[in-house]
Amino acid sequence: MPGAGASARRPVLALVASAAGGVERWLVAGLARPLAERGWRLAVTLTPTVARWLEPDLPALAATTDLPVRWTSRLPTEPKPHPVPDAYAFAPATANSIAKLALGIGDNQALTILCEGLGRRAPVVVMPQVSAEHAAHPAFDGHLDVLRSAGVLLVPDPPAVLRELERVGPFAAFTENGGNTPDR
Ligand SMILES: Cc1cc2nc3c(=O)[nH]c(=O)nc-3n(C[C@H](O)[C@H](O)[C@H](O)COP(=O)(O)O)c2cc1C
Repeated sequence: MPGAGASARRPVLALVASAAGGVERWLVAGLARPLAERGWRLAVTLTPTVARWLEPDLPALAATTDLPVRWTSRLPTEPKPHPVPDAYAFAPATANSIAKLALGIGDNQALTILCEGLGRRAPVVVMPQVSAEHAAHPAFDGHLDVLRSAGVLLVPDPPAVLRELERVGPFAAFTENGGNTPDR
């Protein structure tokens, strides 16, 4: 495992969260912290709605990474605050954001990052959390089909996110990428 002093060379995971109920109860302890402990350098991006929900948890979330937690886009004159990710985890994924991802709509920073990841054919793990009504929407199954056909791994819960990411990295991602280029 890369040592603590090798932070610039640790593989980067884009951890993206959207506004699904209960996220504030598990995102830090159930996902961000375990991922950081497994050697990922976290590039956390939130949808604007969940950024509001997680306001009290932002210090704990920020403590899992040396990179800034984002929910807004940068100005064109500003450098990119996150390196190019080696892999992507989108958890929890709302029906709203799943639809946007499947259609390629990047109308906030979180969706912009995820749409780029899909376009790059990088490893992407998505944990949908949707109500029965949202799942029964006539377009929903088609959105999941689009994501599956792009190679996205759909998983049911945070432990499954951790398991799937064990399979793609951090070592696999790190080796494939030959290290990460900061601030591209
Ligand atoms: C308390 C609460 C819980 C919610 N839980 C879910 C959920 O589990 N799944 C879902 O798809 N939407 C849920 N929603 C609706 C989303 O928050 C809403 O569609 C929002 O626009 C999603 O924004 P985002 O995808 O940009 O984060 C919930 C809303 C509230 C207020």
